[in-house]
Amino acid sequence: MTHSATPERDNVTEPLATGRALRLHAYGGADSLKVDTVHDPEPGPDQVLVQVKAAGINGMDWKVRQGHLRERFNLVLPATLGIEMSGIVLKVGSNIKDVSMGERVMAALGGLGAYADHLVINAEKLVKTPPNLSDIDAAALPVAAMTAWQVLKVPEFDLQGKRVLIHGAAGGVGSFAVQFAKAAGAVVYATASTKSVPHVQALGADEVIDYQNQKFELVANNIDLVVDLVGGPVVDKSWAILSPNGVLVSIAATDVVERSPEGRRGVWFSVKPDTARLASIAQQVADGILRSVIAEVVAFEDLAGAIERNRTGHTPGKTVADFTR
Ligand SMILES: NC(=O)c1ccc[n+]([C@@H]2O[C@H](COP(=O)([O-])OP(=O)(O)OC[C@H]3O[C@@H](n4cnc5c(N)ncnc54)[C@H](OP(=O)(O)O)[C@@H]3O)[C@@H](O)[C@H]2O)c1
Repeated sequence: MTHSATPERDNVTEPLATGRALRLHAYGGADSLKVDTVHDPEPGPDQVLVQVKAAGINGMDWKVRQGHLRERFNLVLPATLGIEMSGIVLKVGSNIKDVSMGERVMAALGGLGAYADHLVINAEKLVKTPPNLSDIDAAALPVAAMTAWQVLKVPEFDLQGKRVLIHGAAGGVGSFAVQFAKAAGAVVYATASTKSVPHVQALGADEVIDYQNQKFELVANNIDLVVDLVGGPVVDKSWAILSPNGVLVSIAATDVVERSPEGRRGVWFSVKPDTARLASIAQQVADGILRSVIAEVVAFEDLAGAIERNRTGHTPGKTVADFTR
């Protein structure tokens, strides 16, 4: 996904189409993001041009903004942020057969660039948005739902009857992880702040631990799978509550393997693209089998503020930017 503020277009006479892009101009705080007007990118033969209707906000946004992920994303600044979106196909590349102009699509980008009115993306990354799913709901799914689905598969054991503890259950990933773990037959413990406890209970967790008033390590024990969506001290306090063959999988503490004490198994996990699974999850949300909880819908102009609120704490569920507001 690339956007150029000054594209080379020799011998082209028609005016260039433009759109908004939320771009990072220097690593730092919320004021390092600016809404710029940029020229539309042209799709290559295997790509499509998408008009973005909505985009999901993720913890990765502020981590990239602050330069925490410089090694993973070798960005040329200014760079457009955003890792997931839903929208409508405006143009297709010459090799594209199975996506048409005007189709509604959604995707995890596997890179950056979703916070722009228009983006180009390889067609193989797209999932068709179910007709009965809104663009807002579609934009909330690719990263959170896929991460939750995949993280529960990491230990490679059947979750039926297993004891699972989910740290950070009120957030975007956690809200899906609770539902998937329950559907798989696990006994689900979940941690959440006082205000988020009712939300996580409503998702079906068997025991919700209010981490602001209770020590989870005194409530839960003999846990087969700890899913860490928070990082920091909760990882270190979780080793003691694992069952002898228990596993702790983290998506938030990159150093979890090095932090694993002797005889304990800690695993780092990073979400991978899986369009077939995303399509299936999207249909389940559309059909009301799975709940997608939207905490807040913001306008494009409030994206930078929403990214900062993701860093400092937000209401339960997922925040989505509505580009049509
Ligand atoms: N590795 C990967 O592939 C991958 C993929 C997606 C996301 N991530 C990362 O995973 C993390 C979670 O993502 P997300 O989208 O679910 O974030 P999120 O929506 O911000 O959710 C995190 C939740 O954690 C809760 N929380 C904060 N401190 C806590 C504590 N001490 N104990 C328990 N819960 C606590 C917060 O809610 P309450 O305070 O109300 O409980 C918040 O809702 C982020 O760091 C994100 O960057 C990694």
